[in-house]
Amino acid sequence: MTGAGGGPLARLLGAPVETEEAFTDLPGPGGLFPEEAAHIARAVPVRRAEFATVRHCARTALARLGAPRVPLLPGDRGAPGWPPGFLGSMTHCTGYRAAAVARADALASLGIDAEPDEPLPDPGILRMISLPGERAQLAALTAELPHVSWERLLFSAKESVYKTWFPVTGRWLGFEEAEVTLRPDRPDGGTFTARLLPADSPFRTLSGRFVAEKGLLVTAIALPL
Ligand SMILES: CC(C)(COP(=O)(O)OP(=O)(O)OC[C@H]1O[C@@H](n2cnc3c(N)ncnc32)[C@H](O)[C@@H]1OP(=O)(O)O)[C@@H](O)C(=O)NCCC(=O)NCCS
Repeated sequence: MTGAGGGPLARLLGAPVETEEAFTDLPGPGGLFPEEAAHIARAVPVRRAEFATVRHCARTALARLGAPRVPLLPGDRGAPGWPPGFLGSMTHCTGYRAAAVARADALASLGIDAEPDEPLPDPGILRMISLPGERAQLAALTAELPHVSWERLLFSAKESVYKTWFPVTGRWLGFEEAEVTLRPDRPDGGTFTARLLPADSPFRTLSGRFVAEKGLLVTAIALPL
């Protein structure tokens, strides 16, 4: 486990956010509450392990904020429930689990996502998750900084957008409903902006940060109140 300062997510988010990251899974059920264990009982072992480890990360970060230790159960469309007065976001990919949490009186929402720094598994996916202007941007970024999988990074940024958007709106958001601009400001990271295209979106833009480190692409959005 690595808390503030130790992993890629901690480089992206500071106070009022607490983060916790893990690069290996906890052995066994990892301190799940009975209702969490029941929820995940029929899943394959790798899913049970990521579910338990990421919740351990979330509870560790929540404890630093003084939050009560409670079950973190998936709710509406998979969005996790948080202790009253707190909010957060969780992500997992091969070799990495991470959570970010904050007090609900400090932020409006949080969204984090991690992906392997590898090309998208199928070239057809890019057309499904991107807009024409985004694809032009990706081509330019790939020519300039070819060591980063920019298409996968765009995907991760959009997953962070959705995880920020959903707890506020309770609504689906399609990949074509946010236009993301990626702005590297150093070889291994930078910022991004998502323009929300639905006319009734409660916010016009979301601003986030990204890092490419340890074979991972990690994106994060902290939406101010
Ligand atoms: C739900 C989704 C965002 C998860 O992302 P992912 O990259 O597949 O998986 P990750 O490991 O990064 O994240 C999984 C975690 O996201 C969280 N999550 C799931 N649904 C969520 C939702 N509706 N809102 C917020 N967080 C959610 C959960 O904590 C979950 O982990 P858990 O099941 O162990 O609790 C993704 O599967 C999805 O449905 N995307 C389609 C919508 C979208 O991204 N639109 C783009 C808009 S621009």
